[in-house]
Amino acid sequence: MTKHRFSATEREGVYRAIAERRDMRHFLPDPVAPEIMSRLLEAAHMAPSVGYMQPWRFIRISDAKLRVAMVALVEEERRETAAALDERGEEFMRLKVEGIRECPELWVVVLTDRRERYVFGRRTMPSMDMASASCAIQNLWLAARAEGIGMGWVSLFDPAKLKAMLKAPADSDPIAILCLGHVEEFYRQPMLEQKGWDKRKELTTVIWENYWSANEIS
Ligand SMILES: Cc1cc2nc3c(=O)[nH]c(=O)nc-3n(C[C@H](O)[C@H](O)[C@H](O)COP(=O)(O)O)c2cc1C
Repeated sequence: MTKHRFSATEREGVYRAIAERRDMRHFLPDPVAPEIMSRLLEAAHMAPSVGYMQPWRFIRISDAKLRVAMVALVEEERRETAAALDERGEEFMRLKVEGIRECPELWVVVLTDRRERYVFGRRTMPSMDMASASCAIQNLWLAARAEGIGMGWVSLFDPAKLKAMLKAPADSDPIAILCLGHVEEFYRQPMLEQKGWDKRKELTTVIWENYWSANEIS
């Protein structure tokens, strides 16, 4: 027990947001109020980051032509992914893997340019910039769930092509297309679980002590 603990109701809210956050791919057309969107971005910007580098940049896509181009980009990668999946390719093509066409709020998260200046915590692991931006995205995702707003993270795209579309610097890197909006209902389970694509691993199979354990069931 610690005096720093949140109240029972507050703790319940935190754990509920974590448990009921879902990757959403179905959205209602109703707009997201700007003040809600601001709160979500503030939550994202409060994320931890390696060496405090804050590598995230958020680009709102309001241009309809750009959105159409992004739909085509993701569709191209969806087909490439299906081909790479061999015997599961057809099953993959039946999954809904994005809601870009219909979501009222469309954003791209880009790792900023000139990141090599940040060495603190990244000298041996430069990908900690991506880890930091992922923390920001997760903050946004959880805050969105608490606000009743659904979000989907789409990574099915060629980053070089998306970068060119967004006129982003050569050394920047888009890592996420985020679809946000109101939803009819939140999926009760991860959609990939509902569709039989995969299931959550047992917690005990992913926690080990001292040494790498061979008990993992793939
Ligand atoms: C880094 C990252 C990239 C993802 N990219 C996609 C994607 O391109 N398309 C998609 O349908 N889901 C994507 N997802 C969502 C996952 O499929 C989803 O998180 C997982 O199935 C568990 O479901 P849940 O988020 O509802 O718990 C992505 C998730 C993460 C964390």
